[in-house]
Amino acid sequence: MGRKMIVGNWKEHPATAREAKRLFDATAALADVHPDIQAIVCPPAIYLGTVVEARKAKRSAAKVPLGAQDVFYEEKGAFTGAIGSKMLRSMDVEYVIIGHSERRKWFGETDAVVAKKVAAAHAAGLRVILCVGEPPEVRKKGVAAAKHYLAAQVSRGIKQAAKKGLWGIIVAYEPIWAIGSGRNDDPRDAAEVAAFIRKTARMAGARNVKVLYGGSVNDRDVGSYIGAKEIDGALVGGASVAIGELKKLFKNL
Ligand code: PGA
Repeated sequence: MGRKMIVGNWKEHPATAREAKRLFDATAALADVHPDIQAIVCPPAIYLGTVVEARKAKRSAAKVPLGAQDVFYEEKGAFTGAIGSKMLRSMDVEYVIIGHSERRKWFGETDAVVAKKVAAAHAAGLRVILCVGEPPEVRKKGVAAAKHYLAAQVSRGIKQAAKKGLWGIIVAYEPIWAIGSGRNDDPRDAAEVAAFIRKTARMAGARNVKVLYGGSVNDRDVGSYIGAKEIDGALVGGASVAIGELKKLFKNL
């Protein structure tokens, strides 16, 4: 079963490297008093070096693995602005978020691009956190419609990687309407969909699948998601970059 995970997706925060160090140190201190939880932080790539140094400074901090928020599918070359899997590995990065709905929305990522990134990152030894989630207009039609949408997104996302054997993928279920909106999913619906996603990923060839829930997770509801046996943890945005919020969240685990 393994420990439940709390993955902090810092997005485009904080504003300075100094604050990034503070945020990491605060997260590591909280993780240290919650050894039953696997805390992972995903800072903006520009702060990875800062966080790597902060991890080295304390033995407890080294127990908090690092994730990146994106990766390009080519290892190297004339791809201005891009960062490849091996570069991330060389910075002690173990996890990578791929296909977040904000990447899809603001950076035009399609399922085809996501699939290439998943395959490249997995081949390079990164643990992939593949994000999927239905838009509000789909969810309005009900949970069955959402499942139909998600089945396509999950299988398209992992198909390429699964051809070579896909072990240890993490799928984050993040309904688009729940992200950053304060409107989170009913924990029972989230658990049902998480079980469905696990089944779909297995049918598409993935093994040892973990499923996270994400979307406006806060201190009041985190327990109702990660307490469900179908859900292996939470992907947390807003509450992972505000130290006060994060403290409350860990307190309620
Ligand atoms: P949120 O973000 O917790 O701020 O809704 C979650 C995410 O997008 O990963």
